[in-house]
Order: sequence, then C-alpha cells, then structure tokens
Amino acid sequence: MKNLAENELLIKLNQLYLDTQSSIVDNENWKINFNSYSKTIDNILIKHHSFLYNELQTLNKYIVKIKNIYGANHKELVCLSEKYQILKLELIEHALKEESEVFPTIKVFESNPALINKTKLKTMMAELKNEHDITCNHLMEMRKMTNDYLLTETCMTYQLTFKRLKSLENGILQHIHLENQMLFRSIENQLKKDS
Ligand SMILES: [Fe+2]
Ligand SMILES: [Fe+2]
Repeated sequence: MKNLAENELLIKLNQLYLDTQSSIVDNENWKINFNSYSKTIDNILIKHHSFLYNELQTLNKYIVKIKNIYGANHKELVCLSEKYQILKLELIEHALKEESEVFPTIKVFESNPALINKTKLKTMMAELKNEHDITCNHLMEMRKMTNDYLLTETCMTYQLTFKRLKSLENGILQHIHLENQMLFRSIENQLKKDS
C-alpha cells in the first residue's frame, strides 16, 4: 500500500510538471506567460490560499464528525483526525508566513532587486520548500492510514469527507507545484544569473 500511495502522488506531481511544461517553453518565457512574480503571487493568494483557509476549516468539521461516529470501529479515523489537525495548523502557519514575509519580499525583489538581501531570500525559499516536503509527507501518511481513502462505510458524510480530502490533496499539490517549480525556481534562476 505504501508504494500505491507514493506512486499516486508521484504520478500527480509528474502530470502537473508535464502540464506546466506544455504551457511554458522555458524560464526565459516566464514573464511572457506569467507576466510577473507579483501576478503569480496574486494568483496563488486568490486561487490557493483562500481555498486552503476555507476548506481546511470546513473539512475539519466533517473529519471530527466521522471520527466521533465511526472512530470506535475504525481506528484509522482517529489517526486521520490527529494527522489532519497537524496538517491544518502547519499549513495555515505556512501560508501566513508566505503572505506576511516571503511574498512581500519577492514583490520588492521584483521591483528593485538591490533592496533585497539575496541570501536571506534564498534561505526563506529553502525553508518554504522544506515545509512543502513535510506537507507532502503528511498527505502520503493520510493516504496510507486510510488505505488510499478506501470507503468502508456507505454513510454519505463519510463518502463526502474522503472525496473532499482527495480534492484538498489535489489542490495542495498544485499549490506546492506552482510555488516550487514556477515561482521559486524562476527566482533562483534569476539570482544565479545576477550573481
Ligand atoms: Fe502558498
Ligand atoms: Fe507554500
């Protein structure tokens, strides 16, 4: 089961990578396709961060509900709920850090690179990428503990919760891909060229 969950995540990441490659010829075209780091950041905030804040809170209620109803017979739901609380707290903290520190720094870097400490910016992006890896590990563990979100009850709430968890996972993977492979990689390439 370990391999199945890992393979599925890898397949999704690879597909996202291929989709991205088809829309971008190379990083030189970044500004043509995406106009600017600022626009990409605004897109991330509107599309992904707002989804994350809303969905993490809403889904929490469903997870707690099915854990309370079925947890005695399905211990995996207790583990899932515990892991989800960690994921939720870490992701909210992560997104707030991006919004308050890292993204504003990138916007200043874009308009006037001389104002920014490049080493600090690199460190900030490395920290975020590390946190993305931790998030992916949480998602993988959630798949493992639920047998790839295998439904063992016919209850509608149970089904809806697992469906929304899979959709949340998909949204988070796209979000991470956009930040790691599109935004941060382009900035790192620019920093290399400028150094
Ligand atoms: Fe983000
Ligand atoms: Fe992020």
